Amino acid sequence: MTTLPGAEWWRTAVIYQIYPRSFADLTGDGIGDLPGITAHLDDLVDLGVDAIWLSPFYRSPQKDAGYDVADYCDVDPLFGSLRDFDDMLAEAHRRGIRVIVDLVPNHSSDQHEWFQQALAAAPGSPERARYMFRDGKGAGGELPPNNWDSVFGGPAWTRIVEADGEPGQWYLHLFDTSQPDFDWTNPEVQGEFRRILRFWLDRGVDGFRVDVAHGLVKAEGLPDYAHPGHEVDAMGGQHGEVPFWGQEGVHEIYRDWHRLLAEYAGDRALCAEAWLPTVAQTALWVRPDEMHQAFNFNYLETGWDAAQLRAVIDESLAAYAAVGAPSTWVLSNHDVVRHASRLALTAENPQGHGIGPDSPGKPIPEVGLRRARAATTLMLALPGSAYLYQGEELGLPEVIDIPGEARQDPTWFRTDGERYGRDGCRVPIPWTADAPAYGFSATGESWLPQPAEWAALARDAQTADPASTLSLYRMLLSARRGRGLGAGAVEWLESAPGVLALRNATVTVFANLGEVPIRRPEGVVLIASGPLDGDFVPVDTTIWLVND
Ligand code: GLC
Repeated sequence: MTTLPGAEWWRTAVIYQIYPRSFADLTGDGIGDLPGITAHLDDLVDLGVDAIWLSPFYRSPQKDAGYDVADYCDVDPLFGSLRDFDDMLAEAHRRGIRVIVDLVPNHSSDQHEWFQQALAAAPGSPERARYMFRDGKGAGGELPPNNWDSVFGGPAWTRIVEADGEPGQWYLHLFDTSQPDFDWTNPEVQGEFRRILRFWLDRGVDGFRVDVAHGLVKAEGLPDYAHPGHEVDAMGGQHGEVPFWGQEGVHEIYRDWHRLLAEYAGDRALCAEAWLPTVAQTALWVRPDEMHQAFNFNYLETGWDAAQLRAVIDESLAAYAAVGAPSTWVLSNHDVVRHASRLALTAENPQGHGIGPDSPGKPIPEVGLRRARAATTLMLALPGSAYLYQGEELGLPEVIDIPGEARQDPTWFRTDGERYGRDGCRVPIPWTADAPAYGFSATGESWLPQPAEWAALARDAQTADPASTLSLYRMLLSARRGRGLGAGAVEWLESAPGVLALRNATVTVFANLGEVPIRRPEGVVLIASGPLDGDFVPVDTTIWLVND
C-alpha cells in the first residue's frame, strides 16, 4: 500500500541496524547468520522498533566484513541462503517490521566476476571501462595516476600485472585494495545497479541503505587532491572540496533510482550514507526527487555539549524541512566508536580510528554509559526518523582491549596498527549471561572475542530490571510511538546554560549536560535516563515529563 505523501513510514520510523555477523549465530561457526536474525525477531518486536537495516550479507570474500561484494544477488553461505533471506523477510513483515538492505554501489570486491574479467582484458577494453583503470605517471608508469589516499590508509591506487606478466595499469580503490571503484559514468554500471535494485525490490525489501552514497562520481580528470594541511579524514566529512566526495553527478544517479523505486508499491525508501561537512550539504541528497533519508552524521559527530547539540538539532530540522524530508538521528553504527564510550572520550578521536589499549583519553565506562542513556533519551524525543545500532539498547561500550592478532578491520592492517579501526564496535552481542558466547552462538565461537564484563550486560540479565538500559529503550520507543513524537515538532523552552529543554507534542524533555544538578520543571516524570535526586536532575541525565 502506498500512503499519502507526508505520511510515509520512513518519515518517523525507528530503524534498528543489524550487523549480521555479530547479531546471532545459529550455525555455531562464530559468525552470525540470517536464521539467527529470524530467531530473534520477537525480541525486536518487544524492543519496539519499526524497521531493521541489515549490513551486507551478500557473497563476499569478507575483506571488509562484506562491504566487498562479489555477487550482489546472492547470499554468502556464511550467512545462509536466499531462501533464509526470504524466510527472514516474510517473518519480519508478518510482525510489521520493515526491512532495509545495504547496497554497495561505489565498489565491488576484486573477486567480482567483472573485476576478474577486467584484469584479464586489455587496457582500453570495455571490461576495464567498468572500473577506474588508468595508466600510471612517470616514464614507465610506475607512479600512481594521482595523489589520492584510501579511506583506510595508504594510497588509493594499486598497480596490476598485465596478462603478459609486465606491470601495467593502476586501478582506483577509495577503500581497501580488494574494493575496486566502479566507473559510474559507464551506462553498463548504471544498468547493472538498476537490475540489482529490482532484484531485491521484487523480493520485497522496503528499501536500501546506500553505502558511500557521496562517493560514486569522481571529479573530471581525477585531479590531485590539495590536502588542506592534513590527511583525508576517514569518510571525508570535514573538508570542503574533495575530488571524490560529493560531486554533483551523483544526484542524477539517485534521481534515476527514485523513479525506479516509485514504480513499486509500498513506499520503498533510499537512505544515503553520505559523510559531508554540513547538514545543509547532506540535505541535497534528500531533495524531493532523490533519496528519502540521509544519515545525520553531523548530529552523531556533535560532542556532549548543550549549545552545540541545540545548534545541530535546529540546523537539521531547518535544512531537511527545506527539502521536504524528515531529519534522521543516529548515535552509533558499525563504523564509529559506540556512543556509550565515545561521549566520554577526553581526547580527539577521528572517525574510523577507533580506540585501543594505547589510545589517549580513554573513557570512564560509568560516565560513558550515563551520557549514552541521556543522549538516547534526548534523541528519541526528536521528530523524524531515528537509527539504532544493535547492542546500544544493552548499553554496550566499545571494546578497547581486543588483542592485535584478533583484529580484522582493514584499517588496522593498512595503517600498521596505528589506527585501531572499527572492530571495537562490532563484537558479537550478548543475549544470555551464562551461556557460551553469551548466547551469541551455541558453540561458544565468536569471530571477535567478547569481554568478560558483558555477562552483566546480556539481554536476559536486563529484561526484568526496570532500571536497565534495555528497559529504558523499551519505554522510550513505546512512548515515542504512543505519543506520536516522530511526527511532532520541537519547541525550545527557556533553560539554564548546559541544559536543553524542549517540548514535542505532549512531552517535555529536560536534559542536564551541565556540571551541577538542576531543579526539574513541573510535571510527572514519564521516563528518566538515570536516577533522580528528588526534584533535581543530576548531571548527564535526561527526563521526559508529561502533564496529562
Ligand atoms: C561504508 C561502510 C563501511 C565500509 C565502507 C566501504 O562506510 O559503512 O563499513 O567499510 O563503506 O564499503
